[in-house]
Amino acid sequence: MTQRTSRNTFLPMALIGTIVVALATAFAWVAGIIGPHRQSGGDIVNALEANAGGAHAGYRRAHAKGLCFSGSFTTNGAGLALSPASMFQPGTYPVIGRFSLGGGNPLATDGRNVFHAMALRLTAPDGQEWRMAMDHTPIFPVADPAAFQALQVASTPDPKTGKPDPARMKTYLAQHPETAAFQAYIAKAPLPASFATAIYYSINAFRFTNGAGTTHLVRWQIIPEATGPDLDKNTLASLPRDALFQEMVARTAKGPSRWHLQLVVANPGDVTNNATIAWTDPHRVIDAGTLTVSAVGPEEAGQCRDLNFDPTVLPRGIAISDDPLLAARSKVYSTSFTRRAGEHPGPSAIGKDMHP
Ligand code: HEM
Repeated sequence: MTQRTSRNTFLPMALIGTIVVALATAFAWVAGIIGPHRQSGGDIVNALEANAGGAHAGYRRAHAKGLCFSGSFTTNGAGLALSPASMFQPGTYPVIGRFSLGGGNPLATDGRNVFHAMALRLTAPDGQEWRMAMDHTPIFPVADPAAFQALQVASTPDPKTGKPDPARMKTYLAQHPETAAFQAYIAKAPLPASFATAIYYSINAFRFTNGAGTTHLVRWQIIPEATGPDLDKNTLASLPRDALFQEMVARTAKGPSRWHLQLVVANPGDVTNNATIAWTDPHRVIDAGTLTVSAVGPEEAGQCRDLNFDPTVLPRGIAISDDPLLAARSKVYSTSFTRRAGEHPGPSAIGKDMHP
């Protein structure tokens, strides 16, 4: 009688125990306590801050030096072949954006061989939004968030020399030939003498699904109407600290700058999950409309400071691809935004004397 009772209670207890252990394991996996290590937004933002010599309160943790702009996007309807996004319906839509240079120091000189960049928010009357953050290179130095963090750590300047530790960088590059290839490319790539003459690239691929339900993988590029000289990389260090931003302010006072949004449709076999690899063959390209930048202003007055240009905020018919950078960017931009929004925002590093 006693034996049967204990057997009767053992089975349900064992079942409950198994369920508790399974739930705890699942929780630990989801929370990242066990299983493969995934970078948190905090891990990567900490690495960006350390790389920039510490946190610069109130500023973006990457692309810290920037200038707001406003303008419009005029669509011709051609983009509807790829997506029913409202901003592809023929019309003109308001734009808020930001020009920036790579790096986490808002006071760094413009005389560096770094990314010119453009961020955009397009808004349609029905509330759909398309946020983008683009660099002027068609490829990126790393393919995934782990490599991004490792690169930040390896390239953090040694406080004693002010330069990255060569041994640490050598070890990193030996493990990441794609970053070494990017460095070779960027060393020779032209550096436009104006934000207005630079091409800006989505770099990451996105999935566009049209009204008929057909999906295409797309990277896009924003091609300037204006042309102009490139900077001389041999004399970069002598460029006045804010030369590029001041040029854009002076240029915009004389008139607007324009770019064309070109949608580049992947060929079969194009790599979509690795932003270090360019799409080089001829492609189907759709000119979807014209971006006009008509006013620039310091960050707080220009409304871009308190925006997070998270590239996963997308309109109908555009979705993220299998590129692992995209989800990582969303969480890291959010962490950077949360930190800077919680700090006392300093005055704009650029254009503080302007009254747009
Ligand atoms: C894992 C990869 C990446 C990480 C961790 C990262 C990190 C960041 C962070 C922390 C910010 C500041 C966000 C804010 O406070 O609002 C930022 C801004 C920016 N990023 Fe990235 N980024 C990554 C990849 C890229 C790529 C592939 C591009 C180009 C296509 C890009 C272009 C930009 C631009 C243009 C901005 C400035 C946006 C603005 O003006 O507000 N980033 N990035």
